[in-house]
Amino acid sequence: MTAIKTIGLEYAYADGTNALSGINFEANEGEKVAVLGPNGSGKTTLFYHFNGLIKPTCGEVQVFGESISKTNIENIRKRVGLVFQESDNQLFAPTVFEDIAFGPKNLGLDSNEIKSKVSEVLCRFDIENLARKNPANLSGGQKKRVAIAGVVAMEPDVLVLDEPTSGMDAAGITDTIGILDELNNEGKTIILSTHDSDLAASWADRVYILNKGKVFKSGLPRHIFADEKLIADAGLRQPVIVQTYREFRARGISKGEIPLSVLDFMESVDSIKVMKIRCAVAGCDVAAGDDVCLEMRDGMMVANKGSKGGVTGTVVFDGMKGEDIAVKDVAGNLQQFAGNITIIRVPGIIEGGSRAADLEKVRDILSKNKQQKIGAMGTSAKVLINKMGLMCDFEFDVIQSGMLAALRGFDVTILASGGMADRVVEKAKDKKLNYECFVL
Ligand SMILES: Nc1ncnc2c1ncn2[C@@H]1O[C@H](COP(=O)(O)OP(=O)(O)OP(=O)(O)O)[C@@H](O)[C@H]1O
Ligand SMILES: [Mg+2]
Repeated sequence: MTAIKTIGLEYAYADGTNALSGINFEANEGEKVAVLGPNGSGKTTLFYHFNGLIKPTCGEVQVFGESISKTNIENIRKRVGLVFQESDNQLFAPTVFEDIAFGPKNLGLDSNEIKSKVSEVLCRFDIENLARKNPANLSGGQKKRVAIAGVVAMEPDVLVLDEPTSGMDAAGITDTIGILDELNNEGKTIILSTHDSDLAASWADRVYILNKGKVFKSGLPRHIFADEKLIADAGLRQPVIVQTYREFRARGISKGEIPLSVLDFMESVDSIKVMKIRCAVAGCDVAAGDDVCLEMRDGMMVANKGSKGGVTGTVVFDGMKGEDIAVKDVAGNLQQFAGNITIIRVPGIIEGGSRAADLEKVRDILSKNKQQKIGAMGTSAKVLINKMGLMCDFEFDVIQSGMLAALRGFDVTILASGGMADRVVEKAKDKKLNYECFVL
């Protein structure tokens, strides 16, 4: 089903500025849509239409198939939550707690239900410590977090966020995107605007590029970002990973489909004819022409003398232990060095969170892996790791970082709840990594 649709949407401000001219936009239920476009291209004006904040000069806006009208506007505002670009336009209550409580109050919840809803949201956004503060006294990034939390508390089906990550630090961006993914896994449609091409490329199911009030182009990130001229003409920056891929491809190192993440990029790297590898030969050194076998040690590829083992090569120059040597004719599947992925499915916030988890079982699972790396996705998993006094190795981009570590030989455990755990499984399958799944 289509969650939000605009047909021939036009909007002119009172001073005559034509902010939108003939926008046809569509976001399907459960989709993650990113809207990109230079300053003044009409992103904010478009978003104002999604919950009827402003009325089109011409054209139509449909929400779950219904055209917005006076009779359904109240219901539509419940279904479509809008987070403003400027948090100061959103936050008004004397405390963060009251600000977040505003939505649940409007939904008609009783005071106990309101309290429990606000606590859940404060916990999800990790802002319990801000509950008693005046929103006006928060930092820019904190205000953004509170503003998003306030809209999430209203439990809308569609979350529309106007530049939700601008002004946030790296951890704030990762947390926010993590929470949005979590909500998306719970079935919410997410539409956001951003100037961050890297984020749009790696996060979105679908991308819209606006320019001068028109849809310049829309489509799958893979198609949009493959078109270098399109991105330049739209006044946008190429994602760094795409730029890197193009440089590698120009030098004959990368090939295939355009990557949208570091993990995809690793697949684009063609088998290299000569590799520079640390020589790990104990006792004796290697000479040109010697056979070596390769293995992964502490996340680094090393060469040993001999031709036993799954991946072999021939030394190009003489070399000593501890030095980098050149190895040619590398044969065998490097993937066999990959470690295992263990996925622990943690109860999500709505299933009782970390309180409902069996910590002994987690300890038991973790004790089975040696040299391991741990990642936690989502609030419940992070809280659980904290409770156990453990540290995460991956704070950012957990799925991708975990898979990359596994490809470098580490055993990796990822704790995640609900749909996020499913995404880890999908990705592990996709990358042909060995995985095992446990449910708490
Ligand atoms: N209240 C207003 N009155 C008149 N013109 C406006 C008003 N608000 C926005 N505009 C104009 O409408 C156009 C679209 O603005 P909008 O804020 O939607 O762009 P945007 O893509 O969100 O930009 P940014 O990336 O800077 O947030 C711009 O030309 C802007 O000057
Ligand atoms: Mg804007």
